[in-house]
Amino acid sequence: MSKSRLRVGVLVSGSGSNLQALIDSCSGTDHPAEIVTVISNRPGVKALERARAAGIEAVTVDHKAYPDRESFDAEMQRALDSAGAEFVCLAGFMRLLTPGFVEHWSGRMINIHPSLLPSFKGLNVQQRAIDAGARFSGCTVHFVTPEMDVGPIIQQAVVPVHQDDSAESLAARILEQEHRIYPASLRWVAEGRIRIEGGRVLLDNAAAPAGSMLNPAPESAR
Ligand code: GRF
Repeated sequence: MSKSRLRVGVLVSGSGSNLQALIDSCSGTDHPAEIVTVISNRPGVKALERARAAGIEAVTVDHKAYPDRESFDAEMQRALDSAGAEFVCLAGFMRLLTPGFVEHWSGRMINIHPSLLPSFKGLNVQQRAIDAGARFSGCTVHFVTPEMDVGPIIQQAVVPVHQDDSAESLAARILEQEHRIYPASLRWVAEGRIRIEGGRVLLDNAAAPAGSMLNPAPESAR
């Protein structure tokens, strides 16, 4: 008999390319996770179309219809519960969550962020990496804690910043890696291979690999 799959709800706000990567990776009944609902705080976004196209429930909880963050989060909680979600992935979800919601999903909610945390938390991070003259940026999958972009890191990928990069070109290069490490991280979680200890993530009870170094050292430095 096949083992039951981890029931995952994905929260989105926009294009949903990370959602698509998760959908593609979870397709097939032998994957240990199953996306049971996709919830957007913005009506009409492409992420909702992607969910429908994959036969996944697509729900809009428009934050503008709620007087405060608490009532909005309560509605999201209801939507997740009614889908029977056991785990949450934030995939380009652009709202701050209340501490109560985050606590409820503590250890059961992960996010993808387009920088190498703890550098460049928050918004507009690709431009900020360029402006700072960073030679490398990348992306991070991490557990969500009440403080934004701070939780235990599951996986990272390194991406070079080119001299002539715009925020858009760097974002596109980083996104390619997001689409690789987010599904891989969810799989680890769903396989039960991830544990948080002392604020750090352990994979198979050892320190998790840091993701791939995509930029081999120049010939002269080898
Ligand atoms: C990604 O860069 C993600 O890291 C950030 O928002 C962007 C969402 O892109 N949090 P998409 O909606 O997954 O295409």
